[in-house]
Amino acid sequence: MIVELEKISKFYTNNGLVSKRNVLNEISLSINDGDSLSIVGPSGSGKSTLLNILGTLDLPTSGIVKIKGKEIQDFNEKQLAEIRNANIGFIFQQHHLLPQFTLIENVLVPTIPLKDKNLKNSALERAMSLLESVGLADKIHQHPGQLSGGECQRATVVRALINEPNLVLADEPTGSLDQDSAEQMGELLSNINKKHNVAMVVVTHSLDLAKKMNAIFNLDHGKLEIIESKK
Ligand SMILES: Nc1ncnc2c1ncn2[C@@H]1O[C@H](COP(=O)(O)OP(=O)(O)O)[C@@H](O)[C@H]1O
Ligand SMILES: [Mg+2]
Repeated sequence: MIVELEKISKFYTNNGLVSKRNVLNEISLSINDGDSLSIVGPSGSGKSTLLNILGTLDLPTSGIVKIKGKEIQDFNEKQLAEIRNANIGFIFQQHHLLPQFTLIENVLVPTIPLKDKNLKNSALERAMSLLESVGLADKIHQHPGQLSGGECQRATVVRALINEPNLVLADEPTGSLDQDSAEQMGELLSNINKKHNVAMVVVTHSLDLAKKMNAIFNLDHGKLEIIESKK
């Protein structure tokens, strides 16, 4: 078990007023080693909120979040960052690569706070090999501004994998890509799940991408329902 959500609910407050609608309503979900699932649903249905809670970037209003069996609600920022950095890689719709750094520098950023000396020492080698595996071997010294959107997004896959996470969370990873790059990105994410045995949760509007995962969930009106499963 990597992440376990037990009856989590979330509502936002605006100027101290609690909105009547629960964005998430008592959702339970377990993510195990090697799982792959996608989450679809209308805009504003809470997909990003759910993904952020899975990734410990946000906390639920009620319910329990466990990472590797540990309840995290009383963790401080430092403890959260540590458990997140050791277990979870993130991919967002925008690549958020730092423009002043080269590709190789960018993908190494998450290794800066690493505690694990072995993982830290082998980071450069791992970065090179991962960049090669996503077809960016000859671009490692270029800056993001010199690369296409698809290339930048493939680099974020490497950045997400650099600390050897157990789980990768992707929020609309193909949302800003043209069709060909999106197709390539989808293949890449699906291959990574199989090859690195890393669990993958993908939020997407693309049914093509959603179908590349083993299970598809729909989030609507605060409830998560499985709509398709290959297992
Ligand atoms: N920080 C926030 N403060 C207040 N409301 C928010 C905040 N983040 C999201 N929301 C609201 O929660 C709902 C779900 O948002 P979100 O998780 O981004 O949905 P999705 O990713 O499915 O489009 C929306 O109604 C949105 O306006
Ligand atoms: Mg969203």
